[in-house]
Amino acid sequence: MTQTTLSANATANNAATITAIGNYWNERIHDLEIATHPVGSTGFFRELDEYRFDKLRYLPEVVDFPSYKGKKMLEVGCGVGIDLVRFARAGAIVTGVDLAQVSIDLAQKNFEQNGLEADLRVMNGEALEFPDNSFDVVYAHGVLQYTADAHQMARELHRVLKPGGEAIVMVYNKYSWLNALSKLMSVDLEHEDAPVLEKYSIGDLKKILRPFSQVRIVPERFPVESKLHHGLKATLYNTFFVKAFNLLPRALVRPTGWHLMAFARK
Ligand SMILES: C[S@@+](CC[C@H](N)C(=O)[O-])C[C@H]1O[C@@H](n2cnc3c(N)ncnc32)[C@H](O)[C@@H]1O
Repeated sequence: MTQTTLSANATANNAATITAIGNYWNERIHDLEIATHPVGSTGFFRELDEYRFDKLRYLPEVVDFPSYKGKKMLEVGCGVGIDLVRFARAGAIVTGVDLAQVSIDLAQKNFEQNGLEADLRVMNGEALEFPDNSFDVVYAHGVLQYTADAHQMARELHRVLKPGGEAIVMVYNKYSWLNALSKLMSVDLEHEDAPVLEKYSIGDLKKILRPFSQVRIVPERFPVESKLHHGLKATLYNTFFVKAFNLLPRALVRPTGWHLMAFARK
């Protein structure tokens, strides 16, 4: 097989995977399972926000939303726009893209209900339709691990970022407490059935972020009580595991955080 045929096949495979990823996320809105209010209602978005920032209570500690006031920001894989609304509320000028039309439509509603503005579009984060050096900040939380080619998405994030701009990325940690527990207890991770779900080591993530300089990676996301799971395993987890784990010195368990948060510069 020639090099040209090989790369043509790779491109066709990538396009097929991107289509499958878009289809999957059109049917599975992230965190939808916990919603009790009608999809798209004010109560629905409030519930998703409360759930997310309870589960990810570390997020406002490491991402100082108010400090992005006036910054031109792009979120890739914005879902229904829960984080993007927080950035916009703080005064950032926001653009959000996602492969899933359903997410973008809901994100639009979320912004309208909050009286906020955003440029929201269905777009592939591996082939961004923005010129080079367009944004002060690019944000992709829980997205690179679900795309066909994480290296290509990182190159695109780098390309559209202005020189000196900041990239904030979160991927899942291969060597985390949650990955180990999920295997031990035979409980699937969320979106285990997605067309792509990769977990990375800190070294893997550094390679993906090679186009950037000053890459700082902080493992975060330690056990909090699950509102999603029920039954005996969930009771054991909520009653014993969460409390016992959180008694351990954070410095000791820090490398096992489920979320690898990366902060990088162009
Ligand atoms: C786990 S959800 C995360 C959503 C949101 N960032 C959050 O943290 O709640 C993953 C999102 O990434 C989007 N996604 C995956 N691959 C993408 C790509 N190549 N381009 C744009 N969005 C993508 C999916 O459609 C989905 O909305």
